[in-house]
Amino acid sequence: MADILIVVGTESGNSQMVADLLRAELGRLGHAVDLANAGEHGAARLAERDIVLICTATHGDGELPDNIIPFADSLRRDRPDLSRLRYGVIALGDQTYKDTFCNGGKTMDALFAELGARKVGERLEIDACTQPLPDEEALEWAKDWVGQLS
Ligand SMILES: Cc1cc2nc3c(=O)[nH]c(=O)nc-3n(C[C@H](O)[C@H](O)[C@H](O)COP(=O)(O)O)c2cc1C
Repeated sequence: MADILIVVGTESGNSQMVADLLRAELGRLGHAVDLANAGEHGAARLAERDIVLICTATHGDGELPDNIIPFADSLRRDRPDLSRLRYGVIALGDQTYKDTFCNGGKTMDALFAELGARKVGERLEIDACTQPLPDEEALEWAKDWVGQLS
């Protein structure tokens, strides 16, 4: 069973809702799941982890939500070696922001890859325009994702 840290980037709560559901459901499946508000979670803490699931929205003009910016900044500044880390990305966005669709998730994805972490599965991109139930789509994806961890 996997020991997973979910890092959430949210402004209006959708990503938090997705992360809360995943924590409960993956926990029910026997996984150990911690949830971190990204702002509280410095890059140094990643050294203690093996598996991270990033669940983040996009705000502004393709930017990260405010609460995850300190976390991303600390990764850019400290540049920890994440080569023993495996990660997945759930990106929430809205297709009407054509040029910046899911940029927040894409940014975190690129940052983890740059620091040597290995991605498991494809990034999930959830479009608020066409998907009224982001948590259900995320749960289906996450069940498949944890299967790929073993
Ligand atoms: C002011 C604002 C700007 C946004 N900018 C983008 C964007 O550039 N690209 C994108 O894909 N989605 C964008 N979105 C859509 C959000 O990412 C989407 O609604 C998401 O579900 C919000 O998640 P949250 O509740 O966790 O913050 C924006 C939403 C708002 C309100």
